Amino acid sequence: MAPSEESPIRQQKNLAGAATRWEWPCSADLAAVEAARTFPRMSHPDFPNLTVLHHPLIEHKLTLLRDKRTSTRDFKQLVSEIAMLMAYEVTNDLPLEPVEIDTPLERMRGAQVAGKKLTLVPILRAGLGMVEGISQLIPSARVGHIGLYRDHDSLRPVDYYFKIPAGEHDRAFLVLDPMLATGGSATAAVSALKHAGAGRIRFLCLVAAPEGVRRMLQAHPDVPVFAAALDRQLNAKGYILPGLGDAGDRLFGTGRG
Ligand code: PRP
Ligand code: URA
Repeated sequence: MAPSEESPIRQQKNLAGAATRWEWPCSADLAAVEAARTFPRMSHPDFPNLTVLHHPLIEHKLTLLRDKRTSTRDFKQLVSEIAMLMAYEVTNDLPLEPVEIDTPLERMRGAQVAGKKLTLVPILRAGLGMVEGISQLIPSARVGHIGLYRDHDSLRPVDYYFKIPAGEHDRAFLVLDPMLATGGSATAAVSALKHAGAGRIRFLCLVAAPEGVRRMLQAHPDVPVFAAALDRQLNAKGYILPGLGDAGDRLFGTGRG
């Protein structure tokens, strides 16, 4: 591979076939450093596209989030914090490039994240709740928006907005939505991004249902899905069980209760 060439996101399985490592493209001269730094992720035994991020802080905060007594204010704060913790894990293998700087004492070679700015793409509305926390971690991240809502009867996604920054071919995208239920919204959002030219996409959600993960695997096997939890199933109305209820309503205080 030529020094400046980038490889596509690729999935690597170890000999046992259990550990999966997802890689962002990286410049060849830092490939060895990247390889040493990247930790293997355990993909889910039933879903090779899914990584559940088990971290004590994520699990603790997710339990608070699920609790129906949690206020709108705390719900917002928790979504933001969990998203930040997830992004820290998910960006573990971002490519680096060397940079020369001067400390107050001498010149040294440091490292900086390489390539075009990462782009966060929340799916409106509830995905918006994940932007603030991740932006605190990656202040230079660009933000695109995809407007979709689920028709209450058909459960099909209805699209109403799409705007992403230019340079989509060279950018890495993190699509954000707290809930992956039937997978209709997630697959439609990823299809729209791909249609616009995006190639390097990861999907981050807080709670996933097996149905949604399976649908993503069928529609977009090249898009890794990261979740804070994989729940049991959907109910007859397409809500995740045990889930956390309607994420958008709880986030913006628009529920009827
Ligand atoms: C929720 C959620 C996802 C979608 C998931 O949004 O935030 O976007 O449902 O369901 P699916 O996997 O079956 O498509 P909703 O449609 O309620 O819109 P909102 O965020 O505007 O409330
Ligand atoms: N959307 C939500 O907000 N919650 C669910 O459980 C399913 C879809």
